[in-house]
Amino acid sequence: MSFVPPVNPRLIKTYLALALVLGLFTALGGIATAAQDRFTLTAPSGISFSEIRGYEDWAAVSITQVEEGNKLIVANPTMIEAFKAGIPGNGKPFPEGSKVVKITWSMKKNPEAPFESLMPDTLKTVELIEKDSARFPKSDGWGYAQFLYDATTGTFTEKGELPERAVSGACHACHTIAKATDFIFMPYSKR
Ligand code: HEC
Repeated sequence: MSFVPPVNPRLIKTYLALALVLGLFTALGGIATAAQDRFTLTAPSGISFSEIRGYEDWAAVSITQVEEGNKLIVANPTMIEAFKAGIPGNGKPFPEGSKVVKITWSMKKNPEAPFESLMPDTLKTVELIEKDSARFPKSDGWGYAQFLYDATTGTFTEKGELPERAVSGACHACHTIAKATDFIFMPYSKR
């Protein structure tokens, strides 16, 4: 016969209460630290964030600087190849499946640099334009989407402070200024 030590029923209650509290903390911590899957978001234009999956690794087209921050413009291999082949300067349109992404950051002084140098501070927006003529016939084949980043929560939203801009039509109205270059403003910068 094996020896079973006597168990204090009050201790069991304490252990159970402890386990419950620990479990709760683990669950809450999990919620707080669970990274958002931005690729489940869909912009009002019907374009999903997942349509630019992999954009973090796309090659740079160019950079721009505006008052609110600096922007990096990258494009998928289809569009980069087109740029290298002379599009849109040669008058030809970008091919179907071309995708271009603009990433905007607010800027701050680099605290270590021995001369005045600015570096990205907070990620602001990820915007995209993609060519699918069958899907976006009303905007000359280009579809637009804007995703805003909230640095305090570390999450993206599909609705920005300018919801009226987050539809292809409003974006395209301004991009029509660049009609001569197939509605794309920025050329591929020499490097
Ligand atoms: C008032 C005019 C205007 C509006 C509205 C506008 N854009 Fe642009 N867009 C520009 C200009 C100018 C550039 C190039 C200069 C820059 O971004 O600093 C540009 C560049 C871009 C680029 C990089 C490719 C390119 O054309 O050079 C993307 C991507 C982009 N815009 C997405 C959008 C999206 C998405 C919207 C709607 C939410 C939008 N834009 C609305 C003027 C506009």
